[in-house]
Amino acid sequence: PFEIEVEGHGAIVAVAAGQSAAEALAAAGIRIPLSCEQGICGTCLTTVVGGVPDHRDSYLSDAERAANDCFTPCCSRAATPRLVIQL
Ligand code: FES
Repeated sequence: PFEIEVEGHGAIVAVAAGQSAAEALAAAGIRIPLSCEQGICGTCLTTVVGGVPDHRDSYLSDAERAANDCFTPCCSRAATPRLVIQL
């Protein structure tokens, strides 16, 4: 489990172990565009401004992962207790 803070939105969304970050955000009324939901297409790519993503997609390159500035919320998670995203 981890939290996602939406910068400038005031929302902090808890992501439970059995749900994706995108599902948790949608349940809180924050809809991220989705397509494959398997980490392949990049449709859901979201800007990360705080925390460290745990990348589980096969879309980003190693350099993009290392840049630590975006993640795919359909499948990726967090390596830190909180991620801060920008929509
Ligand atoms: Fe395709 Fe997330 S919806 S990578």
